[in-house]
Amino acid sequence: MTWTANSCFVTLAILFLWRGEEVAEACRCFPAHPQEAFCRSDVVMRGKVVGVQEVDAGNDIFGNPTKYDIKQIKMFKGPSNGIDALYTNPYSSCGVTLNNGTEYLITGKLNDDGMMHIALCDFIKPWDDLSETQKKSLTQRYERGCGCKFTFCFTTPCMVSSPAECMWTDSLIDNEMYGGQAKRLVCMKRSDGSCAWYRGPH
Ligand SMILES: *[C@@H]1O[C@H](CO)[C@@H](O)[C@H](O)[C@H]1NC(C)=O
Repeated sequence: MTWTANSCFVTLAILFLWRGEEVAEACRCFPAHPQEAFCRSDVVMRGKVVGVQEVDAGNDIFGNPTKYDIKQIKMFKGPSNGIDALYTNPYSSCGVTLNNGTEYLITGKLNDDGMMHIALCDFIKPWDDLSETQKKSLTQRYERGCGCKFTFCFTTPCMVSSPAECMWTDSLIDNEMYGGQAKRLVCMKRSDGSCAWYRGPH
């Protein structure tokens, strides 16, 4: 992955109290177009949160992970034996909070132990908040652009470095991270090997 500027981190600052002092901790990670999230994730699934537990990992310093029990509704990408739980670290600023009873599109990583982990920069959204293009592209179209390179550009000039690249400019043009390109476009590889945005199914 390359980036058009050297400091395009999305910084999410979280304030918490530590021995009576306010300390700012930030999760630093790169946001991704939903298609890029699809391509780079080990697991992409539609699932409903059906339980929430704190796992006693005996970690008094960094906190224990949270385990979300998941009812898998559809697996778009991932292990054939399915996923029934997700782990995240709520005490880390990169932790994710999900609501019990809510259906989500969840992308995340599989650890060596086979457990699925999620963090703030994974693309995770309530299923009902997805656009039609996003829902319909999960089954086929997103995959067809996985050989393309996604470049995030948030400040002009935005320049592609190769023809096999799709430039994600939502935060520049729509002034929001997940704007028109994220909601309606799919990056596709053409027969000559170049890549371009196409209007997705809707
Ligand atoms: C989560 O919701 C399920 C029903 O979908 C319920 O049985 C369970 O007790 C809830 N768990 C928590 C921690 O709220």
